[in-house]
Amino acid sequence: MSKERSADLSVPGKDGVELPVHEGTDGPDAVDITSIYKQTGCFTYDPGFVSTASCESKITYIDGGQGLLRYRGYPIEQLAENGTYAEVVYLLLYGELPKTDELERFNASLADHMPFTDSRIPDLLASFSRDAHPMAMLMAALSALAAQYHEETDIHDADNRDRATHRLIAQVATIFAAIFQYRRGGEIIAPRKDLSYCDNLLHMMSAENGDLPLDDTAMRAAVVRAMDVILILHADHEQNASTSTVRMAGSTDAGPYAAVVAGVCALWGPAHGGANEAVIRMLGEMISSGKPLSEYIDRAKDKSDPFRLMGFGHRVYKNYDPRATIIREICHELLSDLKDEKDKDLLDAAIELERTALEDPYFVKRKLYPNVDFYSGIIFKALGIDSSMFTAIFALSRTSGWISHWNEMLAGGVRLSRPRQLYTGSRARDYVPIKER
Ligand code: SDX
Repeated sequence: MSKERSADLSVPGKDGVELPVHEGTDGPDAVDITSIYKQTGCFTYDPGFVSTASCESKITYIDGGQGLLRYRGYPIEQLAENGTYAEVVYLLLYGELPKTDELERFNASLADHMPFTDSRIPDLLASFSRDAHPMAMLMAALSALAAQYHEETDIHDADNRDRATHRLIAQVATIFAAIFQYRRGGEIIAPRKDLSYCDNLLHMMSAENGDLPLDDTAMRAAVVRAMDVILILHADHEQNASTSTVRMAGSTDAGPYAAVVAGVCALWGPAHGGANEAVIRMLGEMISSGKPLSEYIDRAKDKSDPFRLMGFGHRVYKNYDPRATIIREICHELLSDLKDEKDKDLLDAAIELERTALEDPYFVKRKLYPNVDFYSGIIFKALGIDSSMFTAIFALSRTSGWISHWNEMLAGGVRLSRPRQLYTGSRARDYVPIKER
C-alpha cells in the first residue's frame, strides 16, 4: 500500500473522526473509510461511485481534467503510435513492455490457444438466429469455456491463472470472428499459427467475397494497423463499469471465465460500451432525416427528452477523451487509404456534430466532449463490420484489461466485494392476513 497521512472528518452529531489517507503515485489521494462504520455507526453514501476508489491498482491511470490516459505509465498516444496490440496486452498483464523473445513467446502462446477449445462452440453459435445480438452470442460462447474449464482452474495458482488469461484473450478473438462469419453466412475460418494476433483476427474474419479489403497487400497493412490501434485504445480504462463488474464477480472466486462473462454483460449497455453502436445509428438518422443538427442538439439538452448525444460525455473525462482524438485521425487515414466515399458522409456528420456541440454553452459548461465511442464505429463500418458487432469488438479488446485487473486482484489477496446501502424502506411491521387487508 502507498504512503499514508491522516484526515479529520467531522460527521454531524458524531465526534470528529480521524481517518488514514492513502497517497497514490498520481491522481487524487484516497481517504481510507474502512473503519468509519465502526467509528461512527454511519455508512458513506456514493451512488454511481462518483467519489469512491474501489481498489488500489497499478495498471491504468486516467486524469479526466487533463485528458490523460496511461497504461502502466506509458501515454496512450505513444502506445498507439508505436505498439502492437499483443505488446500492449503483455504490458497490461505483466507491467513491463516485452523484450523480443518475451513477445515471441507470448504471441506463440496466444496462437496456440486460438483454435476452438471445444468443437461444439460453433454449433452453439449456430443455435442462435443469424440476427441475434453478438453480445448475447459472445456471452454464451464464453460461458461454454467456463463449463469446459471451471473445475480445472485453481485460480489461486499463478501459472493456472496465466494459462486461463492467455486462453481467454486468444479465444475471444476466435469466437468474435466465428460470430462475425456466422451472422454474414460465411464459413468459420481457422486461425493460423504464423500470424500476429490482429492479423489472425482479420484472417478469421476475411473471406473471398468479404467486405474486408484484405486482398491488396498495402490495403491489408493499413487495415491491420488500424485494427491494432483500435484494440490498443479499447484495452483498458481503470475501474469503468464493466471492469468493476469483473472485479466484483471475481471477488467471489467465481473464476476468470464467469468474471469475463459478467464484464461482457455490463459492457453491453449504451451508457457504456454499447454507445459505439448507438452513435452510428444516431449519425445515420441525422443524415437520413435531413433535419438540422440544431434540432438534435436541442433534444440532447431537453431533460424531458430521453435523447442523448451518444459518444459524448464521460464520467471521468472533463476534457477530450484522448482515444477519441486518435480514432478521429485514424478515420481520416483509413477512409482515404480505402478510398471510401460511402462512410465519408458519416465522418463529416460526426465532425460537424462535434463542432456544433462544442460551440454550445450547455456542452461547454458541463465539459461534455467526444469519448472513445464517438468515432470508433466509423472505422468498424469502413472495415465492413456490421454495427451490431461494434460492442463485441470493444469486449474483445477489453477482455485483456478485464483479465489484467482480475489477475491483479487475485495476486494481491482478494476480499469479497459486498457494498452496504442506505435503507429508506418500511419500518418493521406485522403480517396481515389477506381477508383483513
Ligand atoms: C464508455 O467509464 C469509462 O471509462 C467508460 C469507457 C471505457 O473505456 O470503459 O470510457 C467507455 O463507456 C464511454 C461512455 C459511452 N457512453 C456514451 O457515450 C453515452 C452518452 N453519454 C452519457 O450517457 C453520459 O455522459 C455518461 C453515462 C457517459 C456519463 O454520465 P454521468 O457521469 O453520470 O454524467 P451525468 O449523466 O451526471 O451528466 C452530467 C450532465 C447532466 O446534465 P445536468 O443534470 O447537469 O443538467 O451532463 C449531461 C447530463 O444530462 N449529459 C449529457 C450527455 N452526457 C451527460 N447531455 C446530453 N448528451 C450526453 N451525451
